[in-house]
Amino acid sequence: MADWTDCLNFGISIAKQASEVVLSAFQQHKEVKLKSSPADLVTETDQRVEKILISAIRNRYPQHRFIGEESVAAGEHLELTDSPTWIIDPIDGTVNFVHRFPFVAISIAFTVNRQTQFGIVYSCVEDKLFYAQRGGGAFLNGEPLHASGQQDISRCVVVTEIGAERDDVALSTMTSNIRRLLQLPVHGVRALGTAAVDMCQVATGGADAYYHIGMHCWDIAASAIIVQEAGGVVMDTDGSEFDMMSRRVIAASSAAVADRIAQVIQAFPCCRDDEDNCGCGATGVN
Ligand code: IPD
Repeated sequence: MADWTDCLNFGISIAKQASEVVLSAFQQHKEVKLKSSPADLVTETDQRVEKILISAIRNRYPQHRFIGEESVAAGEHLELTDSPTWIIDPIDGTVNFVHRFPFVAISIAFTVNRQTQFGIVYSCVEDKLFYAQRGGGAFLNGEPLHASGQQDISRCVVVTEIGAERDDVALSTMTSNIRRLLQLPVHGVRALGTAAVDMCQVATGGADAYYHIGMHCWDIAASAIIVQEAGGVVMDTDGSEFDMMSRRVIAASSAAVADRIAQVIQAFPCCRDDEDNCGCGATGVN
């Protein structure tokens, strides 16, 4: 079996370098442009960081492919193939970045034959480096990570996000999902504004579960393997196998908690990341 440790180490080193660009812009005024909705933002720093990461990787691994949030937003076709592929979110938590709310992350996942080999989430302001390699465990700043193992939903802290969708169906589904969980009851519902960092909280045991509908593959591809390698469970919100292109995810401390959340929440329609005009009535990225 191929060993992708060299790629992992390279990914970690460029994530750390790129975080200096994010941090130096963090306190500055930003020019903000809108993407798919008034809450889906991009800045010059998102675009610059993605270019820095892709050009560094391309120099070292010229055969590798890329799926980058801002390249796709600029019109690049999104397709996950069997080739070694880097899936990049240059700033996960762009709304936080614009407002200087201190949770922003660089998220990098690496797939081969469509299977994630490693994931890196660098929470820049917190200076927290989460990473995991398939079969090698998950780590935070070099220390092993373990999910809480909690089995009882009524003792859980659950993290979720109200994403960029603002249509009636999405809003009422998101708010009623939160209401149903609070009525179970769970101990609490939280949101940090970055899917990647939210999900890593499950890997640390600080949260017991995370679910999200409407995010994209670059938001959660890296943190999914970090949760799995920390002993957690990752699945689709309908209880089926996790599919990073489906735009639906549950990450949990145990199968029991993941299943319970899948029973309680509902999904609103959104096109898969790798498919457009699927007939659901919402739009995709391709
Ligand atoms: C967003 C963040 C946010 C989530 C959105 C994502 P971005 O990513 O992860 O927490 O709610 O769905 O799109 O745009 O900041 O990279």
